[in-house]
Amino acid sequence: MRGKMRTRIIGTGSCLPETVVTNDDLSKMMDTSDEWISSRTGIRERRLVKEETTAGMSVTAARRAMENAGVSAQEIDLIIVGTITGDYVTPSVACEVQAAIGADRATAFDINAACSGFMFALFIADAYLKTGIYKTALILGAETLSKIMDWNDRSTCVLFGDGAGAAVVRSDETGILAYDQGSDGTKGMVLTCRNRKNNNPFVSNSTEPSYTHMDGQEVYKFAVTTVPDSIKEVVEEAGLSIGDIDYFALHQANIRIIRSVAKRLNVSEDKFPTSLEHCGNISAASVPILLDEMNGKGLLKPGMKIVLSGFGGGLTWGSAVVEW
Ligand code: COA
Repeated sequence: MRGKMRTRIIGTGSCLPETVVTNDDLSKMMDTSDEWISSRTGIRERRLVKEETTAGMSVTAARRAMENAGVSAQEIDLIIVGTITGDYVTPSVACEVQAAIGADRATAFDINAACSGFMFALFIADAYLKTGIYKTALILGAETLSKIMDWNDRSTCVLFGDGAGAAVVRSDETGILAYDQGSDGTKGMVLTCRNRKNNNPFVSNSTEPSYTHMDGQEVYKFAVTTVPDSIKEVVEEAGLSIGDIDYFALHQANIRIIRSVAKRLNVSEDKFPTSLEHCGNISAASVPILLDEMNGKGLLKPGMKIVLSGFGGGLTWGSAVVEW
């Protein structure tokens, strides 16, 4: 019986910070324009934190997902947060969430797979659940990317936003039908943010902060080739064809990447819902926030086949076919 069990998403939640920053707001601060940003990326506005924190948004998203799933804190066995912008080096965001929601039975930890963080967290939860050790997991993608942006670098800071998304997953008879994940560390330097420098007494480093740097065109090329291949592979692995998929919920980096993937798969863009217009790119949080928006709009019906796909820093990528 256990061999047939799958990992099913049974609830979603999300949380965005209150402050809306439009492209026009940015164009008052730097040499950019709504026309440049929206025509190249599809992004019109993003939410940025003021008082909010990565853990605080995660707790709200987690509570909403648990309510949506009808699951209590005592039922949660595992909490995994995909993030590169936790509030502390330690404790992890996942441990902060555990404490805040009172999930004292849970094991909690963060993972760093950049924009693929939620997908990798989902696959880790799937592996734990399949062993039978755990039954119910809370997985999140959560970021405060605005703190690792160089606000003097118009080529990166206009692209990203802040927020958190969550899903509760549980062993069930349907759920993840197939997944594909991968990494290519040889190309890691096309999207970087250095950690703090070592300032021990035996080295002489300056302590200037480090921000996100990106070779946008290289990341673009990586995304538009790797993502369609990964999706084709995972759909085939699930024993389905591309035409059987009801929705493709992709990482929300850029509308041109999404259009290119749709074209390469020969699928109508209507099957690619988006949130990037009002969220920007929120790295690991993009996929679960989009999924929660789809869920909230009633787009997701039992039996539907949905492709989820994340890609980005590392470089990393991960795609799944889930039956809703
Ligand atoms: N506003 C106005 N002009 C800008 C700008 C901004 N915010 N940012 C850059 N520019 C300028 C550049 O300085 C450059 O000017 P120049 O030609 O005088 O040097 C010009 O616009 C073109 O820059 P370029 O970087 O070649 O633009 P692009 O067409 O490649 O578009 C991206 C840039 C980032 C939108 C595009 O490369 C992209 O979408 N990449 C994928 C990035 C991504 O999604 N990353 C996250 C993945 S997880």
